Amino acid sequence: MSTNDRTNEGTNDSANDRAASRVAIVTGASRGIGAAIAQRLARDGFTVVINYAGSAREAEALAGQIEQEGGRAITAQADVSDSAAVRRMFDAAETAFGGVDVLVNNAGIMRLATLADSDDALFDSQVAINLKGTFNTLREASRRLRNGGRIINLSSSVVGLYQPTYGIYAATKAGVEAMTHVLTKELRGRNITVNTVAPGPTATALFLDGKPEEVIERLARLAPLERLGQPEDIANAVAFLAGPDGAWINGQTLRANGGVI
Ligand SMILES: NC(=O)c1ccc[n+]([C@@H]2O[C@H](COP(=O)([O-])OP(=O)(O)OC[C@H]3O[C@@H](n4cnc5c(N)ncnc54)[C@H](OP(=O)(O)O)[C@@H]3O)[C@@H](O)[C@H]2O)c1
Repeated sequence: MSTNDRTNEGTNDSANDRAASRVAIVTGASRGIGAAIAQRLARDGFTVVINYAGSAREAEALAGQIEQEGGRAITAQADVSDSAAVRRMFDAAETAFGGVDVLVNNAGIMRLATLADSDDALFDSQVAINLKGTFNTLREASRRLRNGGRIINLSSSVVGLYQPTYGIYAATKAGVEAMTHVLTKELRGRNITVNTVAPGPTATALFLDGKPEEVIERLARLAPLERLGQPEDIANAVAFLAGPDGAWINGQTLRANGGVI
């Protein structure tokens, strides 16, 4: 794991004053929804740890952009499916900033096939990243998050829609929702909330790649609001749960999907 300190110690505006006391790890923040979450939390005054697996250039560019806007960020390479790497990422965040207050479990992959056509690799990769990856970070967070912290897990509205070909992906996300409910109770007494945000179809590589234009059009019109979600729509929901207005929300799944289900 490489961790590059991109903090912007020179600035002294009110956002950075607040950032000094609240630190957020966002997994899978190099691209897509995670990048929008990292950007939004930085604007809300959090110091942000931008986790990524392979997209170092994108992660560094995002950290640079956050700096330019007066925020604070470091990048942290760690494959979330690797428990030792996840531990080192938390170590790095604690070393750089003294502790962690918010964990956003956003890293994920989606591989679609009917159960009949799914091979072992398709099953194993999604379970390793979406389910075990979330477990790895939740375990560290439940041991190390500062009191008063927030945990936000990313599920999907396919838990509920249950379309054909989404079986294994939906199963991993249903598991994420189950862990959310259990961890909420295990963290009793520490003033830490645990919630899930479950997006519907959202305009990122994960959703768009490999889909013909007409399929994208059809799926975009499924929701009564008749458009795809944008990464910023999901970041808004996460920011609510991470911020002061979300303090009383605990153990819930918030479907951010324009009404698709
Ligand atoms: N887009 C949708 O329609 C939609 C709908 C419902 C739920 N979601 C959920 O929202 C989350 C974000 O999805 P997205 O659409 O933004 O996906 P995306 O555009 O494909 O981005 C995925 C992000 O996850 C990171 N990542 C992948 N494997 C990783 C690993 N093993 N360790 C650490 N990071 C890893 C990627 O980093 P690298 O680039 O470095 O690999 C990237 O930053 C996922 O959990 C997804 O299931 C998305």
